[in-house]
Amino acid sequence: MDLVTAIETRRSVKQFDPDRQLSDDELRQLVRLGALAPTSFNMQNWHFVAVREDDRKADLAAAAYNQVQVANASVVIVLCGNLKAHTDTTRYLRNAPEVLRSMFDGMIRGFYAKNDALARDEACRSVGFAGQNMMLAARAMGLDSCPMIGYEPDRVTELLGLPAHCPPLLMLAIGKAEEPARPRLGLLDYDEILSCEIFGNHSLEGEIAHE
Ligand SMILES: Cc1cc2nc3c(=O)[nH]c(=O)nc-3n(C[C@H](O)[C@H](O)[C@H](O)COP(=O)(O)O)c2cc1C
Repeated sequence: MDLVTAIETRRSVKQFDPDRQLSDDELRQLVRLGALAPTSFNMQNWHFVAVREDDRKADLAAAAYNQVQVANASVVIVLCGNLKAHTDTTRYLRNAPEVLRSMFDGMIRGFYAKNDALARDEACRSVGFAGQNMMLAARAMGLDSCPMIGYEPDRVTELLGLPAHCPPLLMLAIGKAEEPARPRLGLLDYDEILSCEIFGNHSLEGEIAHE
């Protein structure tokens, strides 16, 4: 599947085939392609928890306001931030030349130290990119997905034993669609979401085409 088709056909699916299992190799492929997403300073400030066991998915569904796609997905991936990533640069700069490593080390610590909000913003950016990669990878693998924030973070944290510095920022349900997504709710037009050169200059008009 080409990239444009993957983007155009990615929809938020609620009904997955509950009998479709996800193999270890498929999970590796999803996570590998997710991990190729860009992160600031290559920090890879994330940790993914993949849940495939039925009982645990049922527990997660209960923590997600009983949203059915959590229980019937092949895998539920909880994308956590790693809010301490900036404190240990040796992990992710291990292939960098020494001169670059020590320069980046100082920059990274200085940038995020004493700025918890920035570290959390950064983690949100990172898991957003990784999550989108995973959803598009799922399409390329003949699978579907649903991104989610409709869950109780504290319950998810407890269920998965997440440490305090790894908050659950995004949840992805991934599986084989049993029913298509509902029709799109409506896309905003170009002049509503795009300014050219300076904010408020809506010189490009028209509807954004979709099926
Ligand atoms: C951050 C985020 C959180 C979302 N949370 C939920 C959710 O909890 N439950 C759900 O059914 N859909 C959820 N969605 C899916 C959106 O409703 C959906 O992306 C949007 O309506 C556009 O539809 P599409 O993804 O099919 O293009 C979420 C999407 C995003 C990006």
